[in-house]
Amino acid sequence: MSGEAEGAMGLLAGQVCMITGAGQGLGRAIALEMAGEGAGVILLERNPETLRQVAAEIAAVGGTAEAHALDITDYDAYAKAVADTSAKFGRIDVLVNNAAINPPPRTILNDTLEDWRRTIAINLESVYMGAKLVAPHMVARKSGRIISIASIQGYASSGECGPYNAAKGAIIAFTKSLAVELGSHNILVNAVAPGFMRTPMSIINGVDETETPGFIEWYVDKGKIPLRRTGLPEDVAGTVIFLASKYCRYMTGQLLTVDGGLMSTF
Ligand SMILES: NC(=O)c1ccc[n+]([C@@H]2O[C@H](COP(=O)([O-])OP(=O)(O)OC[C@H]3O[C@@H](n4cnc5c(N)ncnc54)[C@H](O)[C@@H]3O)[C@@H](O)[C@H]2O)c1
Repeated sequence: MSGEAEGAMGLLAGQVCMITGAGQGLGRAIALEMAGEGAGVILLERNPETLRQVAAEIAAVGGTAEAHALDITDYDAYAKAVADTSAKFGRIDVLVNNAAINPPPRTILNDTLEDWRRTIAINLESVYMGAKLVAPHMVARKSGRIISIASIQGYASSGECGPYNAAKGAIIAFTKSLAVELGSHNILVNAVAPGFMRTPMSIINGVDETETPGFIEWYVDKGKIPLRRTGLPEDVAGTVIFLASKYCRYMTGQLLTVDGGLMSTF
């Protein structure tokens, strides 16, 4: 395929990209943009209704989307989705580990071991499972990208979110570990750390924390976020597209922060 034809068809033309938590928020935007760049997208999501909607949105604009309703902590279901994808398309080029939960705010003084285990299972162990399941397929083709959505909370804390932060910090470390282990197989492994993003996850107790007067005053008007706005899902999707594309070729084990400059201020 000539460079010109590839450009006309999109940055990810012909690629098969698997995205977890693709039913809303960042996962939905990543899936839509990857499909828009010519990829066939494999959507993994536990909410069958949002999953169906995103698959329909992609089909409506002529894209290819396969929907798998599953909980990513269910190893057997995840393994079946990977096996089905490999059987149908013969390849898995990109895995985006995106699904996560943001548990209610609690500290070490009032959280529970159950809180910890559930958050670590969904936000961290699933990343291990995804990598474990797709890596052999990527090794066989000597090509692949594993991209994990971490958080600025993986290296700084707002408090009251220990298990979430621990999972995100571990994703950053695991990204480096995978990059070292899989580099000789031409598999690039990178992570993205979003700052404050406007998604359903930012709604806590019915209130969008990025739209409160206090948030707007401090983060936007006073410039704690130098770009003076909350992030949008498309802001992260663009970075994921870069990491999945041919324009990212000599970078692995890295964390790209997408936060409007938040972590550059004090
Ligand atoms: N929103 C933010 O401000 C923000 C900031 C930093 C990092 N992040 C990270 O970005 C990623 C996406 O967040 P978001 O804001 O889009 O969240 P969201 O809550 O809007 O969407 C998460 C999606 O994952 C799905 N999901 C959750 N648990 C699942 C499971 N066990 N199995 C299958 N699907 C599951 C949900 O159903 C949902 O569709 C997460 O990793 C999150 O930690 C978000």
